[in-house]
Amino acid sequence: MKKILVTGGLGYIGSHVVVELQSSGFEVVIIDDLSNSSLDVLDGIFDITGVRPIFEKIDLKEKELVIDFFKRHSDIDGVIHFAAAKAVGESVDDPLKYYENNISSLVYILKALQDFKSTKFVFSSSCTVYGQADELPITENAPVKEAESPYGNTKKIGEQMIKDLCNCNDSFAAIALRYFNPIGGHSSAKIGELPIGVPQNLVPFVTQTAIGIRKELSIFGKDYPTPDGTCIRDYIHVVDLAKAHIVALNRLFDEKKSNHYEVFNIGTGKGSSVLEVVNAFMRVTGVNLNYCFTDRRCGDIVSAYADTIKANTVLGWKARLSLEDALASAWKWEKSLQN
Ligand code: UD1
Repeated sequence: MKKILVTGGLGYIGSHVVVELQSSGFEVVIIDDLSNSSLDVLDGIFDITGVRPIFEKIDLKEKELVIDFFKRHSDIDGVIHFAAAKAVGESVDDPLKYYENNISSLVYILKALQDFKSTKFVFSSSCTVYGQADELPITENAPVKEAESPYGNTKKIGEQMIKDLCNCNDSFAAIALRYFNPIGGHSSAKIGELPIGVPQNLVPFVTQTAIGIRKELSIFGKDYPTPDGTCIRDYIHVVDLAKAHIVALNRLFDEKKSNHYEVFNIGTGKGSSVLEVVNAFMRVTGVNLNYCFTDRRCGDIVSAYADTIKANTVLGWKARLSLEDALASAWKWEKSLQN
């Protein structure tokens, strides 16, 4: 049984990946500093899979602790790295926190991998590296633009660091997955997204408004050059996204397929506007949502959706679940939090 380290494994995407790993027969070790997650997530993972992963509370900025971890777990076969701060606005106000959190920790973990000869690495990257792409849908060959925020820059730098390491070390192989907009939760509603404070992302704000925690959803801008005037994104069900990690990991373990360093877009290939998401949510749940239109949000791009041909053909992964499935699961999760 292969042993996989998942850093940030108690977070939103990490926890869904842990479930898929365990369901696919991998042994999982989680490192998380609990800065944006809760130990209760371990119970959710156990309820779904019947297996409680090994867990260690470690702050990856503590270099000595990272080395010590790998000394004790020298049999790690591969790493999926999520541990990172991800609030775009906060990264603008406190950039060094983001460089320290997201870059220093990545250096330490890559260094440990090199020293301990664990050589398979999946990196959680983002479509944010494309900025407002010149052409849609966005292929992996689209230019990586100057980052809009320190958070975005950490993803861009992170990818480059991993690529550099692959270039100088023949035995190291990595895949960067560029996620579009992950939404929804596990169908069991045992794990899901747990935003701290006021949600910045659309879907948690929608579900919190629907359940009465927020009075009204503000739709940021109605005069964008899109069919209904609201921004367009590629919303991908987090369970589909999680499965992409298993496929990526298996590709790295397959000597015939593994290609040293690769990037893949992980999206559905379909763009949906904010209004389409809101209407789909009301249709799927039967709940009426209070919303209004406000000014554009600073830094928002107009439209982004993935070209998924490379992921479909080279990686052999395809999104299966719909926007409606994702919104229904997000609503089920939100309701479960009230009990
Ligand atoms: C955001 C991050 C991006 C990250 C991604 C992960 C920013 C600027 N970017 O992208 O780096 O990778 O999440 O999912 O934060 N919206 C509203 N009202 C709201 C919230 C959002 O109208 O209360 C709109 C936004 O204007 C946008 C769409 O909903 O058009 C999606 O927003 P959001 O969920 O924040 O994702 P992104 O902005 O795409």
